[in-house]
Amino acid sequence: MIHSILEKKSLTKEDVLFLLQTKGQYVEDLFSYAASIKEKYIGKKVVLRGLIEFSNICEKDCYYCGIRKGNKSVSRFNVTDKDILEAVQFAYENDYGSLALQSGELQSKTFTNRVACLLKEIDKLSKGTLGVTLSCGEQTEETYQRWFDAGAHRYLLRIETSNKELYQKIHPHNELHRFNKRIACLESLQKVGFQTGTGVMIGLPFQTIENLAEDLLFMQTIDIDMCGMGPYLLHEDTPLAKYSTSILPLTTRLELSLKMVAILRILMKDINIAATTALQAIEAKAREKAVEIGANVLMPNITPGFHRNNYNLYQNKPRTTGNFERDGEHLQDTTFGNAQIIYGKRGDSLHYFGREVTTN
Ligand code: 5AD
Repeated sequence: MIHSILEKKSLTKEDVLFLLQTKGQYVEDLFSYAASIKEKYIGKKVVLRGLIEFSNICEKDCYYCGIRKGNKSVSRFNVTDKDILEAVQFAYENDYGSLALQSGELQSKTFTNRVACLLKEIDKLSKGTLGVTLSCGEQTEETYQRWFDAGAHRYLLRIETSNKELYQKIHPHNELHRFNKRIACLESLQKVGFQTGTGVMIGLPFQTIENLAEDLLFMQTIDIDMCGMGPYLLHEDTPLAKYSTSILPLTTRLELSLKMVAILRILMKDINIAATTALQAIEAKAREKAVEIGANVLMPNITPGFHRNNYNLYQNKPRTTGNFERDGEHLQDTTFGNAQIIYGKRGDSLHYFGREVTTN
């Protein structure tokens, strides 16, 4: 019976709800079907983005996030340009193929200029060969264009939840935290020409299984090229911490997150899906599992070691685990989970190029 749903040409909200709620053998069926779709459209492969979390200074106050502006117990940092470029050099020499630059959100001229300059330096350093994903929050369309022109070609901006009411429950109610603005930013990114990624947190307080089904269909409707999503994890110094007793158990959040990855792979066969660090925070091998059932992007953290402890979006964020994340060490791994690690390729979203061909 589950196969008649899995093999449908397009899934309805009811189908997605059914798949999210499967138990026992049906979960295995869902996972192995998603794995077969990944194998067919992507191959048993995973591509890398060397992740540089270059600043935790943020002007936003999101109720879930450990580096929110209002958290006074965070020690704020800005990795120097020199240290960023050293990390870039490491990724370049070790054949990562791509970088992801992530930071807290600032819209100041100083910040947007700095990112533009860094992008040009990165382009020079890698002779234009490294792929660059940016994840620096909401910006004006002009800024997105400028960063695109300076050499970035992918952008991740999680919608966090596609449900406006829930969005308002997990964010302050002011101009800096508008749901409609976030949607407009995703539209701007697509218009500028970025491979555009979004994602959600899974297991948030107040979130329903319907919300999650709608999140998946939202991603399909707006036709994203990439996705990064993972379990919501509590951070004590945040307003949402007070709901700690009413959220789903960790193991349930993990299972739901894996189901979300599997279902998204079935819905959007050729997009890039990340196996996120938040999965690993619940279970050491959860990213491997995500890669087996649909994810194809891994983001090893190559932020200089002395800054890593301060980018705590949530508690128990993994630090230096596995061969990848060891500072300065050359990569030796050839596989991750059941996937072959692809070195030296940018690993762009096939979906993006597919769309370009069909719409131009
Ligand atoms: N739990 C899980 N993910 C979180 N993020 C921020 N705070 C948390 C948390 N407490 C995620 C958000 C954001 C990304 C950078 O990190 O989805 O977009």
